[in-house]
Amino acid sequence: MVIHALSQDLTQGLFPPDRQLIPNLNDIYELELAFYENLILSEAELIKNGAYFSLIGGESLKLPDHSSSRLKSFFEKNIFRTGYATHGLFPYRGKFHPQMIKGLINVMGLKPGDTVLDPMMGSGTVLVEACLMGIKSIGIDASPFCRFMTQTKIDVLTMSLARAKATLTNYEEVYVYFQKKVGQPKPGSKPPKVNTTKDSLSAMEEIAEYVTKKSPTPLTEKDQDTLNTYHFLLLAYLDSAGYSERSARKAPLEQFRSILERYLFVADKIQKVLTGLEVELAQAVVLEGDARALSLNENCIDGIIFSPPYSFAVDYLANDSFHLNFMSIDTNALREKMIGLRGRNLPEKYQFYREDMGNVLSECARVLRPGCFCTIIVGTNSNQLGKVFGVAPDEVTGLHDILIDMGANYGFKPAKVMSRPITGISNTMRREYILILQKTSH
Ligand SMILES: C[S@@+](CC[C@H](N)C(=O)[O-])C[C@H]1O[C@@H](n2cnc3c(N)ncnc32)[C@H](O)[C@@H]1O
Repeated sequence: MVIHALSQDLTQGLFPPDRQLIPNLNDIYELELAFYENLILSEAELIKNGAYFSLIGGESLKLPDHSSSRLKSFFEKNIFRTGYATHGLFPYRGKFHPQMIKGLINVMGLKPGDTVLDPMMGSGTVLVEACLMGIKSIGIDASPFCRFMTQTKIDVLTMSLARAKATLTNYEEVYVYFQKKVGQPKPGSKPPKVNTTKDSLSAMEEIAEYVTKKSPTPLTEKDQDTLNTYHFLLLAYLDSAGYSERSARKAPLEQFRSILERYLFVADKIQKVLTGLEVELAQAVVLEGDARALSLNENCIDGIIFSPPYSFAVDYLANDSFHLNFMSIDTNALREKMIGLRGRNLPEKYQFYREDMGNVLSECARVLRPGCFCTIIVGTNSNQLGKVFGVAPDEVTGLHDILIDMGANYGFKPAKVMSRPITGISNTMRREYILILQKTSH
């Protein structure tokens, strides 16, 4: 009996023998997503867009016949790590695991040509992943910095890298140029503000301002190239400035050089892969806006994936203060829009959070087509909420349960609830939940 049981293979019990899981699949939620992918996707779809399988019927991902052996081995060894494509450009707090997003897009039944929305896109993981899968996407965030970061990560998939590469020979000048605008970041010090104009993206720099004002849009190829190069360098600079604020291990100039080199390496790599695979990227629309009042029509979205702030566990404005200051953003005005940051004390913050999340769910229900899915990833800071509810941390009702109850008011019914471990954050939050809600009514 024991020998018979031990001779069985778990994955062969779950999947057909010609479907092999990726080697670094570590968590149960990943096995669950693979299980549903296997049930929902056709063989051709699994080969093209599957998140958790490395071999299907003896075939790895579909590569053109003329692909180099280097490209083939790149895929066979599984490239889907956290930092692949442009996901690794900028360490944003609360960033999704890209492979999980890919699996969710599949499990929600989204197909090339459909449109997925992330109304709180942060660093744009959903958009980058959807774009690579041929699925159209719309991303929205209240923070102008998130819009800039996500747009840049999308543009880097296709932009010309020639001018950015050339700056490696005079990276000191580039560094000094940006540094002059804000002053060298020193630990604990606030950078001075630069001039303020209405459009935060163009206000960042004269060249960018010049090209964006020089409408009529669309920009000429050369102007677009100038703008893309500028944004690429700026993201690398802001990333390095963030590192230098947190750690004095490397001199800021050296930090900038190594981050710029890494950005160029990563961008070059994904561009080569995309050319080799002849992938057609889908359109990604990146907007600054408010998830509580979406500027979208009713029933125009085929799927929604987002992760709201986990009540008030992270102050996204304090985290990004250097970058927001650099962009001359009025953080006091922005604070009023940011979910989880409104309110003077914990009970008031919680009240606003509930009210805001009610509006977000109502907006999600309005723009989503009936029958489609809205996936929310959320965790609970039990210590904070315990204080609000006046109970011990282990007796706190999780935000996932609170959001499921609230969602019912807007016609959302839970289709699946999964959980995954959170690694790398303080142990007050050990798990987060993946809620796949279906829009049933209207
Ligand atoms: C948990 S993060 C999302 C991270 C994202 N999933 C990623 O992969 O990078 C939550 C985001 O919600 C945004 N946010 C907060 N209030 C918002 C609002 N009213 N409308 C839109 N976005 C908002 C924050 O700026 C933050 O980027």
